[in-house]
Amino acid sequence: MEIIILPTPAEVGQLAARKVAQTISTKPAAVIGLATGSSPLEIYAALAAQVQGGFLDTRQVRGFALDEYVGLPREHPQSYASVIHREVVEPMRLDPAQVQLPDGRAADLEAACEAYEAALRDAGGVDIQILGIGGNGHIGFNEPTSSLRSRTRLKTLAPQTRADNARFFDDPEQVPTHCVTQGLGTIMDAYEILLVAQGSGKGAAVAAAVEGPVTAMCPGSILQFHPHATVIIDEAAAAQLVLADYYRYTYANKPAWQRF
Ligand code: F6R
Repeated sequence: MEIIILPTPAEVGQLAARKVAQTISTKPAAVIGLATGSSPLEIYAALAAQVQGGFLDTRQVRGFALDEYVGLPREHPQSYASVIHREVVEPMRLDPAQVQLPDGRAADLEAACEAYEAALRDAGGVDIQILGIGGNGHIGFNEPTSSLRSRTRLKTLAPQTRADNARFFDDPEQVPTHCVTQGLGTIMDAYEILLVAQGSGKGAAVAAAVEGPVTAMCPGSILQFHPHATVIIDEAAAAQLVLADYYRYTYANKPAWQRF
């Protein structure tokens, strides 16, 4: 893993956006793995600014979301279909037909999960997967004790996740109890991983994922097995890293030939 610590959340968003833009510039029909939640918002805003300024062409870009709530109508403002449309598709001028999410409303959820896996395979896999991390170490909605080889499936949201996401709803009781999420095995199939985290609330999860043992108790720790994972975090999220000085030194002395 490459760990990059930057002073502010805004710098995290800018650098992460640079990485995604690089992928799109190299491959105009790139498949981008899309996370929802607060963590990637600055990435999407920075990419949208590049698109709207005429510096980045996203017309051929394809997108696959990580997860979707079960039980929310598609048109609910907090369904991930709505969030992805509002925060990603429209500002980044993506073709809506090229952006897919797991179907949280399917009558046969198991078949819908299999169809999502097949769609990911048919697309040729995810070129770069954007990830946030939950306070409990989840990535996607793979809550602690998720199988490290799991595929897209139904999951029960952890109480902590429901409490964390209550900020998006008028009433905490409205937060769905279940979701459909790409599995850890699905996420690990991406060619490249880009995890961002900001704020002290993510400090323990980041430290466990990056420096702890690989364990289903911290699903993000599976990324230690990924051959090309970059973790970009602000100082607050880095506060519990034992080797923070080493990561700062490594980034400051990164040879020019080393790919970013
Ligand atoms: C979102 C997702 C989650 C979030 C995580 C962090 O699609 O899969 O893993 O990335 O819950 O959420 P925020 O960024 O809101 O702190």
